[in-house]
Parts: sequence; C-alpha cells; structure tokens
Amino acid sequence: MGIMWVMILWVFGAAVGIGRGGDVTYDGRSLMVDGHRQIFFSASIHYPRSTPDMWPSLISKAKEGGVDVIETYVFWNLHEPQPLQYDFSGRNDLVRFIKEIQAQGLYAFLRIGPFIESEWTYGGLPFWLHDVPGVVYRTDNEPFKFYMQNFTTKIVNLMKSEKLYASRGGPIILSQIENEYGNVEPAFHEKGPVYVRWAAKMAVDLQTGVPWVMCKQPDAPDPVINTCNGMRCGETFPGPNSPNKPKIWTENWTSFYQVYGGEPYMRSAEDIAFHVALFIAKNGSFVNYYMYHGGTNFGRSGAAYVITSYYDQAPLDEYGLIRQPKWGHMKELHAAIKLCSTPLLQGVPTNFSLGKLQEAYVFEEPSGACVAFLVNYDPTRTFTTKFRDTWFKLLPRSISILSDCRNLIFNTAKVSTEKKNTRITTPEINFEAEDKWEAYRDLVLNYLNSSLRANKLLEHMNTTKDKSDYLWYTFSFQSNTSCSNAQLHVQSLGHVGHAFVNDNYAGGGHGSHTSKGFTIDNSITLNNRINNISILSVMVGLPDSGSFLERRYAGLTEVRIQCSDETTAYDFENYEWGYEVGLQGEKLGIYEEENLGNVNWSSNITLFNDQSLTWYKTAFDAPMGENPVALNLSSMGKGEAWVNGQSIGRYWVSFHTPKGLPSQTLYHIPRSFLNVSNNLLVLFEESGGDPLQITLNTISVIDSTGHVSLYKS
Ligand SMILES: *[C@@H]1O[C@H](CO)[C@@H](O)[C@H](O)[C@H]1NC(C)=O
Ligand SMILES: *[C@@H]1O[C@H](CO)[C@@H](O)[C@H](O)[C@H]1NC(C)=O
Ligand SMILES: *[C@@H]1O[C@H](CO)[C@@H](O)[C@H](O)[C@H]1NC(C)=O
Ligand SMILES: *[C@@H]1O[C@H](CO)[C@@H](O)[C@H](O)[C@H]1NC(C)=O
Ligand SMILES: *[C@@H]1O[C@H](CO)[C@@H](O)[C@H](O)[C@H]1NC(C)=O
Ligand SMILES: *[C@@H]1O[C@H](CO)[C@@H](O)[C@H](O)[C@H]1NC(C)=O
Ligand SMILES: *[C@@H]1O[C@H](CO)[C@@H](O)[C@H](O)[C@H]1NC(C)=O
Ligand SMILES: *[C@@H]1O[C@H](CO)[C@@H](O)[C@H](O)[C@H]1NC(C)=O
Ligand SMILES: *[C@@H]1O[C@H](CO)[C@@H](O)[C@H](O)[C@H]1NC(C)=O
Ligand SMILES: *[C@@H]1O[C@H](CO)[C@@H](O)[C@H](O)[C@H]1NC(C)=O
Ligand SMILES: *[C@@H]1O[C@H](CO)[C@@H](O)[C@H](O)[C@H]1NC(C)=O
Ligand SMILES: *[C@@H]1O[C@H](CO)[C@@H](O)[C@H](O)[C@H]1NC(C)=O
Repeated sequence: MGIMWVMILWVFGAAVGIGRGGDVTYDGRSLMVDGHRQIFFSASIHYPRSTPDMWPSLISKAKEGGVDVIETYVFWNLHEPQPLQYDFSGRNDLVRFIKEIQAQGLYAFLRIGPFIESEWTYGGLPFWLHDVPGVVYRTDNEPFKFYMQNFTTKIVNLMKSEKLYASRGGPIILSQIENEYGNVEPAFHEKGPVYVRWAAKMAVDLQTGVPWVMCKQPDAPDPVINTCNGMRCGETFPGPNSPNKPKIWTENWTSFYQVYGGEPYMRSAEDIAFHVALFIAKNGSFVNYYMYHGGTNFGRSGAAYVITSYYDQAPLDEYGLIRQPKWGHMKELHAAIKLCSTPLLQGVPTNFSLGKLQEAYVFEEPSGACVAFLVNYDPTRTFTTKFRDTWFKLLPRSISILSDCRNLIFNTAKVSTEKKNTRITTPEINFEAEDKWEAYRDLVLNYLNSSLRANKLLEHMNTTKDKSDYLWYTFSFQSNTSCSNAQLHVQSLGHVGHAFVNDNYAGGGHGSHTSKGFTIDNSITLNNRINNISILSVMVGLPDSGSFLERRYAGLTEVRIQCSDETTAYDFENYEWGYEVGLQGEKLGIYEEENLGNVNWSSNITLFNDQSLTWYKTAFDAPMGENPVALNLSSMGKGEAWVNGQSIGRYWVSFHTPKGLPSQTLYHIPRSFLNVSNNLLVLFEESGGDPLQITLNTISVIDSTGHVSLYKS
C-alpha cells in the first residue's frame, strides 16, 4: 500500500540558516529564496511517469492549483542503465523537465536519492550494481559509495552546468540525499551512522548553494536538515538535532499506491485539506503532496506487484485530468493561506484551547495583522465558539481559517458541490473483427533447447539480470515405473509461475504484494518415456524497499513430482536444470514493426482461444481529438502491451481484488505514442484471454453541470 508524504518545514526559534549570497537559506520559520520567507506548496510529479508532451500541461495545472514547487525524484536506473552509460532522452530528459518548471515560473525540489523506493523497480537502483564485487547497498561499503557518489555528482554537475540551482538563477531550491534511511539504518549496525555522515558530507561538498534534507534521519549531520516521516510527527518528533535547523515534518498520508489484487484507496479532499491546514497552523511552511500527479508505470518500471496506474486518485489523475473536488479544494486552501502569508510568516504564533476537542492557532503581528486557525477535532459534532467577539460554528472535523482573525475565508470540511466532476470512459474502437488480428504462440522451452545449465535451482533475478521478467526452468525426467496420477509440486519465492508438461499447460500460481511466494500443486499427465517439464517463472517488478536489497531471492526453491504408486517423491532441487532468460518473442523483438517478420503469425486466431504464451497483434487508428486514450483490457489475463513498439506496461486483469474485481482494466496509451492511423498494437498474454473484447477508449471529465471539459494541453 502506498503513501502520500507531506513535508513540512516547520519552525520557530531556530537561528539563522546556512546561507551565503545568492544561496537558498532558511531560518526558524521557512526556507528563504532571495532572503524572503515564504510558504511553499509542493507537488510531486515524476517526469518518467508521463511523457514530455504532457509535462507543460501537468505543470501548468499544478500552478493553476496554487502550487509553488514541483518535486521529483531522480531515477538512477533510467539514467545509468549500464555503468557510465547515461540516458537523458525522451521521458528521461530531466533537464527539459526542470526547465519546463522554470519556464512556468515555479520552483523545483530535486530528491536525488539516489535510492528512491517510490514503488519504482529496485527502488531506482540500477540492477548492474548487484554484480559489483563485494557490494552492499546503502551502507558504509566502498563499491556502493563509489557508484552513489559518481551518480550523485553526475546529476549535480548536470544541474550546475545547466544553471538550474536557484543559487545560479535556476528553479531548484531544495535537494534530498538518501531516502528514509532511518527505516533501514538499524540493520547496518555501526556502519549505518558512518554511511549517513558520509552521504551528508558528500552531498554538502558538492556545493549546490541550496539546502539538503534527509527524511527520517535523526542523526543527519550539519547542515543537512533532518526531517520527520510518520503518522504523528507532532507528538513523536523530538525536533531537529541542532538548534540552527528548522523542524521538517514529512507526514505519512494514508493514501496508498495500488497493487495487483488490491483495491484503490480513496482519500477525501476534506481530509487532505484538514491535515494540510493543521500543519500550517502548527508552524509548517512547506507542504509536499505525494503525489500531485502519479502517472503511469510504463514498461517494466513498476516495483513488485505495483499496477501501472500510479496514484490515480491524486489531484491530477493518471491521465493529467483535473480530479475534482480535490484539485479545486486544495486550490482554495492554497489561496486562503497565501492571502494570510504575511502574518503567518512575520507574526507571533500562539495557541490555546477552545474546548475539549477544539483549539485555536493564531499568528499576529504588532501592527495588528492576524490570521487564526480554529480547529474542531470532534468528528461528529459542530462546535459553536466565540472568538474575539464573534460567534463561529466549527463544522465537525474541520479547520476554519480566519483572515484578520475575523473573516472566515476557508473551511476544510466545506467542499462546494459545483466543484465535483466525474470521469467518463468512452469506447471509441472495438477489436471484435477476428480477421484484423494475428497471433503467434511463443515456444515452451525445454531442457535440450536451454542455453544455461546448472545442477541446482538458480535465483531468478541474478539469472535474468532484469533483462526480462521471464525465466524458464526446465528439466527432462523419466519415472522409474509407470507414473499414474502424478502430482507436481512447485514452490517459488515469487512472483508468478506457469508449469508445462510436454508443451501442455499444466497450471500456474502467483503470490501477492504482501506475500510474494506461492506454491503450485497440480495433477499432471506423464508418459513412460522422457518427459519435458518446463516452468516459466515470472517477476512483476523488482523489490523496492528494505535493507539488503542485493540479497533478495525470487524464483523456484522446490520442485517435486509424486507418483501415486511410489512411496517417495522425486526431488529436483539438485538436478540437471536448463535455463533460458526471456521469451523467444522478446528476443526477436516482435513487438516492433521492423521485427514482426521474425515469426510466422497465424491469421486464424480462434486457434489460440485461451491459449497460454500467445502474442497478438493488430492495427488501429487514433481516436480524433486530444482526449487521453486507454485500452480496456478487461477480457485479458496477464501480460504486457506495446503500442508502436513502446511498452505501455504490464497488465494483470486476472488477479482479482477481495471484491472479485480486477485491480486495473484501463491501460494508458500516451497520445505521443500514437500516429493518426495504422498504429501497431501487440499484446503478450501469459495465461489466456480474449482480445476480441478489448476496446480503445477516450477519457474525459464531465462537471456537475453536465459540461464535458475537453482536454487542454
Ligand atoms: C510555533 O512556534 C512558536 C514559536 O517558536 C512556539 O511557541 C509554538 O509552540 C509553536 N507551535 C507549535 C504548534 O509547535
Ligand atoms: C565516475 O567514475 C568514472 C570512472 O572512475 C570517472 O571517469 C568519472 O569522472 C566519474 N564521474 C563523476 C561525475 O564523478
Ligand atoms: C505509513 O502508514 C502506513 C499505514 O498506516 C504504515 O504501515 C507505515 O508504517 C507508515 N510509515 C511511516 C514512515 O510512518
Ligand atoms: C500549543 O500547541 C502545542 C503543540 O501542539 C501544545 O503542546 C500546547 O499544549 C498548546 N498550548 C496550549 C495552551 O494549548
Ligand atoms: C529445440 O532444439 C531442437 C534441436 O536444435 C529444434 O529442432 C527445436 O525446434 C527446438 N525447439 C524449440 C522449442 O526451440
Ligand atoms: C549471480 O550470478 C553470477 C553469474 O552471473 C554468479 O557468479 C554469482 O555467484 C551469482 N550470485 C548469487 C548470489 O547467486
Ligand atoms: C522433449 O523435448 C525433446 C527436444 O525438443 C523432443 O525431442 C521430445 O520429443 C520432447 N518430448 C516430449 C514427450 O514432448
Ligand atoms: C528411482 O530409481 C533410482 C535408481 O534406482 C532411485 O535412486 C530413486 O530413489 C528412485 N526414485 C523413486 C521416487 O522411486
Ligand atoms: C514461416 O513459414 C514458412 C513456410 O512454412 C517458412 O518457410 C519460414 O521459414 C517461416 N519463417 C519463420 C520466421 O519461422
Ligand atoms: C480456424 O480454426 C478453427 C479451429 O481449428 C477452425 O474450425 C476454422 O475453420 C479455422 N478458420 C479458418 C478461416 O481457417
Ligand atoms: C471495460 O470493459 C468491460 C467489458 O466490456 C466493461 O464491463 C467495463 O465497464 C469496462 N471498463 C471501463 C472502465 O470502461
Ligand atoms: C508514425 O509513422 C511514421 C511513418 O510510418 C513512423 O516513422 C513513426 O515511427 C510512427 N510513429 C509512431 C509513434 O510509431
């Protein structure tokens, strides 16, 4: 389940910050750009989770929503796919993204990590790190520190050379090194604090001229600002580890990313507004919405079991459409806070009780300028109170913001109904014409055809090197006696398995986000001669959290066959195994136009009805207009989809939620992937589905008056 983080720079009473001329500094109250205190609302938008043509509109909608800062992580495994080979093209064009932020007059918050978690495959670490001799990630380990420093320096140098730090006139006002390291630090014992000191010094020595933060890091060395992550930082955070640092609160919003098999998590606009207003009332001056736009985990970029649609419930939905009333309610809140920013930033804060479950937070300047936050924590009852000679009705579980400590300008629990909207999906194209499809069944690899041999069960990730989700485990086997009622037992540490006996599908199994392993126990039919047993092990993203990521294990750990008339089972744990990384179709690149001819496609697709390991292809024209486009894959099982050679992600419709529904049926195709006509759609289906029922939809929103708003880019 996922997390909506809110960061709060919070503070009074601290001394002057670390500033030099032109640099971004802070005092006890807020970050200071050009020497001025300011309240910042920050929106998380991750550049690779959308396409460059979407960036301007996402950023402008955030700006229109009253946001000052765009926050993004930096995705190491996208930028350095091989050691010292860099990629900053297309969706990876970090500089273009930051320059777009700058062009729109907003600030940027760059969380370099370079470990980022973020429900991103391997938490952003490049998989090649796994094979660096002696490497242990995220600790006082020379090989890891070398590559971490090398990449961090590369990014900082790039930002400097493009003049993107505020200290050189650019938009970046804040940076982050590491990420929630406090969660894993105890696992590294005495090496943890040594690593923290090293990481902080390494970052600070890069001299960016803007402050660094480390979230959830009580021992963050000066001048890096330690921040709090948690549900109740107001109660649990002992404060900064130096009187010269501001208090920063990274709040855990109980809004979650979604996994296959999981339900979407809904969080109301009222609830978000309540918490943001409370943070501001409690001296906060920097709030980061995680996520403001979640976007799409294209290709194989999602972490283990994470769906492709990321934080669709954010103020901007997966497609970049404004989600009401969330977006509008936050916009009003931001405007109300900004209206009162002078007393908020310059005034003296006081707070007092109004009732058992009611409190007032007041900021007042000697001149009389004033703002008040009247908080009613009572979830059920309206509370009537007199504040400075005026009676106010405080709605249940709400915060009333009074400008001049007199005029009610915002109530977190009051959402104007005209701000509601509904998302509609309109089927534009169906694919029910059989003759428009062609299909190809991938090969079931067997022992003789496998290119890698070992007399043991190999670990999945270390064998594929993440070149593919797929790994074939194969062996040949002849039973001692005629084996009737054979029973196959397979145990895997994740994530999915499909068993084949002599080319025939013999059942499968899968784990889940919370319990990655699974077993397959199925009856199989064996002949009396040599049988080819092939098990396709599949991963749905690499792990992204916890310590010792380099030691994680996936793939098969036990394989046995029991014949009913024999007392002992055949155990294949230490047996002659054959391995093959990836599918034949993947190796031949048959999801790309130029490689289609590498296999013979069949035009009679009824032959493939509900067949495992089937590739399908067809062509379609783009729907008119600019509205976002998505495939409804509700009739398919599990696999991956490509449009014009670009992967729109892994789909998994057959894994149902506890309510019996797929977690995700709509799969986003960015407009920039499409040509006007004749777009190539290729699907690889693992377990069996019906492509004739697929539809191509446009997505739009309809407001409370019934007006359909067209997508503005
Ligand atoms: C806000 O800051 C003031 C001044 O440092 C302090 O007295 C007050 O306790 C703070 N309020 C909260 C809620 O922490
Ligand atoms: C990264 O390491 C390589 C190899 O040692 C070196 O050539 C390069 O300058 C380093 N890059 C940075 C930015 O430190
Ligand atoms: C965030 O919230 C989730 C769910 O309440 C909880 O499991 C997790 O430990 C929290 N994380 C932090 C850092 O507080
Ligand atoms: C003011 O707020 C602080 C921090 O939440 C709290 O500890 C304190 O008790 C409050 N003071 C009063 C008088 O309510
Ligand atoms: C396996 O290899 C044999 C011999 O090289 C070949 O004839 C056969 O087509 C191959 N089968 C597969 C499934 O690759
Ligand atoms: C990973 O695979 C390499 C060969 O690519 C092998 O040398 C190494 O022992 C394997 N490591 C583990 C932990 O299995
Ligand atoms: C097993 O695979 C080999 C090699 O491809 C093939 O010759 C043989 O016919 C297969 N056996 C069965 C029972 O399918
Ligand atoms: C099959 O025969 C071999 C060789 O005689 C023997 O070692 C093995 O235990 C037998 N396996 C089973 C399951 O009976
Ligand atoms: C496709 O089928 C034709 C006719 O059977 C054959 O000659 C050709 O080699 C096949 N091509 C591939 C890529 O398998
Ligand atoms: C397609 O295959 C099915 C099943 O084998 C068969 O009944 C049908 O006649 C075939 N259609 C064509 C057009 O060949
Ligand atoms: C997807 O298609 C199925 C089957 O036609 C339909 O029941 C479902 O409502 C569609 N989903 C969406 C989001 O349009
Ligand atoms: C659109 O068509 C042109 C010409 O056929 C082709 O070069 C281009 O790659 C296509 N665009 C996409 C997104 O596939």
